[in-house]
Amino acid sequence: MQEGTKLSERSGTLADDPFSGRRPTSHERLTGLPWDASDHDGPAPWDIGRPQPAIARLASEGGFAGAVLDAGCGTGENALHVASLGLSVLGVDVAETALAIAREKADDRGIEVELATADAFRLERLGRRFETVLDCGLFHTFDGDERPGYVASLASVTEHDGWNVAAIDPDRLQTRYHDDGAPAWLATIKRI
Ligand SMILES: C[S@@+](CC[C@H](N)C(=O)[O-])C[C@H]1O[C@@H](n2cnc3c(N)ncnc32)[C@H](O)[C@@H]1O
Repeated sequence: MQEGTKLSERSGTLADDPFSGRRPTSHERLTGLPWDASDHDGPAPWDIGRPQPAIARLASEGGFAGAVLDAGCGTGENALHVASLGLSVLGVDVAETALAIAREKADDRGIEVELATADAFRLERLGRRFETVLDCGLFHTFDGDERPGYVASLASVTEHDGWNVAAIDPDRLQTRYHDDGAPAWLATIKRI
């Protein structure tokens, strides 16, 4: 990990600010590192170099429709997979390093996908609407104080009619360190 990216060493000037002016998230405050540091020493623990099986399964079952937003896309495996099926996908993240890796993969694989730096708490700045939002591993990093702000931000880029929690099922999240993945919840929230 590069010493210069440590939270405690913030310079206070915007140019050197690893958070680009945004408030560090609870996870960043806890670890003392900006999200961007996750990919500085090789792939992050959650970066398995292929789409999460649960996401690929969802996609094969037609779980994605219309314009898709991948919030906290990381190095883009899920976003690239969904885009490779012909859907219009925007992947956003605060980690420039992860986004650069995702862009390189998209180029190498010839997959058309939009990738942009954006804060999941300020999605209204995108000025766009999405029919499907994918969140793989982002929501769970937010603490209880942050979650309402994230939900409001999601509401600003989705239709406003009612949403219903259709299912919350146990699943597995593959990582670089678990043989059979880590326990996870697969939540499906649908418009009424
Ligand atoms: C656990 S990783 C999951 C990455 C990716 N979804 C995957 O499944 O491989 C969480 C991702 O969310 C991003 N992230 C964290 N806080 C964010 C925020 N406020 N806005 C946008 N992205 C954020 C991190 O940079 C990181 O790439």
